[in-house]
Amino acid sequence: MDYFNYENGELMVENVSLARIAAEVGAPAYVYSRAAFVGRLKAFEAAFADVDHLVCYSVKVNANLSLLRLAAAGGYGADIVSGGELFKALRADFRPERIVFSGVGKTAREMAEALEAGILMFNVESEEELEVLAKTAADKNKRARVALRVNPDVDPKTHPYIATGLSGSKFGISHKEAPAVYARAAASPALEAAGVACHIGSQLTDAAPFADAAARLRGLTENLRAAGVDLKYMDMGGGLGIAYREGETPPTPAEYAARIKNVVDGLGVKLILEPGRFVAGNSGVLLATVLYNKQNGAKRFVVTDCAMNDLIRPSLYGAWHDIVPVRKSGAPPATVDVVGPVCESGDFMGKDRPLQPLVAGDLLAVKGAGAYGFAMSSNYNARPRAVEVLVDGDNFKIIKPRETYEDLVRGE
Ligand code: LLP
Repeated sequence: MDYFNYENGELMVENVSLARIAAEVGAPAYVYSRAAFVGRLKAFEAAFADVDHLVCYSVKVNANLSLLRLAAAGGYGADIVSGGELFKALRADFRPERIVFSGVGKTAREMAEALEAGILMFNVESEEELEVLAKTAADKNKRARVALRVNPDVDPKTHPYIATGLSGSKFGISHKEAPAVYARAAASPALEAAGVACHIGSQLTDAAPFADAAARLRGLTENLRAAGVDLKYMDMGGGLGIAYREGETPPTPAEYAARIKNVVDGLGVKLILEPGRFVAGNSGVLLATVLYNKQNGAKRFVVTDCAMNDLIRPSLYGAWHDIVPVRKSGAPPATVDVVGPVCESGDFMGKDRPLQPLVAGDLLAVKGAGAYGFAMSSNYNARPRAVEVLVDGDNFKIIKPRETYEDLVRGE
């Protein structure tokens, strides 16, 4: 079900026209559909309904408190990677015993905060980190539940910046070295060896690598059991890809789940899943206003009020986002680059796009912007960050106001 459809040539989010939202809150604006966000969480959850599992929404993807609250209220857990994300997750009322803490560089302070909160599990990425966690827990008279994030050395076939499960990446502990590190964890009274984890990459459009990674984790779990270390949890991370371009057909949650469930069948572990992009990506758009048309040599540009500080994915990863007019004119398209006001040639939302002729004031929607959009935005060029809006049926509300100039100098 898509909640971003045209009605009489006007792009709607659920039952609200984007033009109306733009008239009331301006642009750039991130606009999310509540039904889409909740619906995708439910679809993901349903794919694992027949096995023992916990879905932990990956907070980094879109950490707006209103969206976090939707996930928390649905009974889902949270995947966090920092003290700040722990703070937001607790503020959103996620239950601590449903929070897993991932990340390659947790500080002792962040560990202490998470121990205090009573989270489910730390996904530990190195031997040195394990030592710091053991000491931090011992100082607090607590026992930390630990999974080792294993690097299964599987090629996720995605953009190199977001491929994480290959040997040679900074992530995880080599699956060959993991047994020795588990032995250390099992020997520490301040640690409980509770699980095994991996996250092989993001935006995977082929489900096979997930099965390969699960098989590695299964083998490791069985070997550890034989050695007397009994793991309860298997955390497969996130990574399920989405369609950024009309016509793309990434695996469905059911296809993805089937691959993993086949491999872990009969193992007797609780599966933890950390979806992010799948839930939020196509649940939001970034609304832009056309400022100018211009031409340089043979190249035609549409300059908008959205820039790389609002959505960095095209600049950073060469990522494709569909860009569509909010009001369809039906006029024949011309090929243009859609760019922003920031002083860099890398500041573009899309290159060589066929778009209907546009004039100043026309609105565009950059699709697939709900994941890693606002979350990665910045104040570069002293640009206040965009307003965020949540649509629910016939209504919408601001869930984070646009930053002001005063926000830009706060604390300076
Ligand atoms: N779990 C862990 C440990 C992760 O590192 C990530 C994402 C996730 C879960 C969620 O993965 P997802 O389901 O969203 O693929 N900024 C990049 C993506 C970075 C991914 C970082 N880790 C982008 O815009 O494509």
